[in-house]
Amino acid sequence: VAEFSLRPRYLSEYIGQSQVKDNLKVYIEAAKLRKEALDHVILYGPPGLGKTTLSNIIANELGVNIRTTSGPAIERPGDLAAILTNLQEGDVLFIDEIHRLHRTVEEVLYPAMEDFALDIIIGKGPSARSVRLDLPAFTLVGATTRIGLLSAPLRDRFGVVSRLEYYTVDELTYIVTRTADILEVGIVGEAAREIGMRSRGTPRIANRLLKRVRDFAQVRGDGVITTELAQTALSLIQVDNLGLDEIDHKMLRAIITSFAGGPVGLDTIAATIGEESQTIEDVYEPYLLQIGFLQRTPRGRTVTPQAYAHLGLPIPDQN
Ligand code: ADE
Repeated sequence: VAEFSLRPRYLSEYIGQSQVKDNLKVYIEAAKLRKEALDHVILYGPPGLGKTTLSNIIANELGVNIRTTSGPAIERPGDLAAILTNLQEGDVLFIDEIHRLHRTVEEVLYPAMEDFALDIIIGKGPSARSVRLDLPAFTLVGATTRIGLLSAPLRDRFGVVSRLEYYTVDELTYIVTRTADILEVGIVGEAAREIGMRSRGTPRIANRLLKRVRDFAQVRGDGVITTELAQTALSLIQVDNLGLDEIDHKMLRAIITSFAGGPVGLDTIAATIGEESQTIEDVYEPYLLQIGFLQRTPRGRTVTPQAYAHLGLPIPDQN
């Protein structure tokens, strides 16, 4: 079964994010009623929660084409101009990691978003003049893990601003069951829940864990994912009962043993465990903050008593 077919293609198949979904449904229907392009949409939140999937769903629901690119991939204003002039009326342009757009490219985007126009400079020096080129009406869907890094003028040009939240265990269990169905692998309900519980609120992780557990089921078992098989496989993959992996453990233990539980700066943590600061900030830290294992203070990150308890480490005297 092809990988892409795991992704839901319509809102009705998309599990979770009910508020975002319900509102989008209204905006999409209204745009279709008026036969207009949908207003520009920004989707933000931690990685793996379905921003790319949703952008494809938006295009499918609108019945238009989608052109997909990313902030860093658009190197020069001309690259963006080429993309914009090739769009058809009502199309979706999806820009992933939109916070990484180059400044010069971003400036081309403003009139494109606001007036569906492209300002082109023709000629050089004193004879240079600006020509305005009309573009088809289109919908920009931007995705970012870092809404705070968007410039205000860019952020202000999005009519729909949607934040994706971590999924509940019930939702993840349902997603695991759905994916297992598509992959045609048998899984008992309790095993699906076990994977759901260890997926850090993230469908991408849930589906990845399901595939690895399926490997164990096929090689070490009889192909069916039982609860015991899921538990054994997950502990071999080194994903603990809260879904924390080796890097989460390394990070928490480093703060506890090398920095007395914090506060300690992000870059210091990164250097200590040999990971990128950016990866820690975007991928690891948000979930640890969410489950209350980590706190951000003006002086750095602090590990909470819950994290000590989870790691089985004694909580030092506070005096
Ligand atoms: N697969 C990954 N994310 C999903 C979601 N939100 N709903 C259904 N299937 C998914």
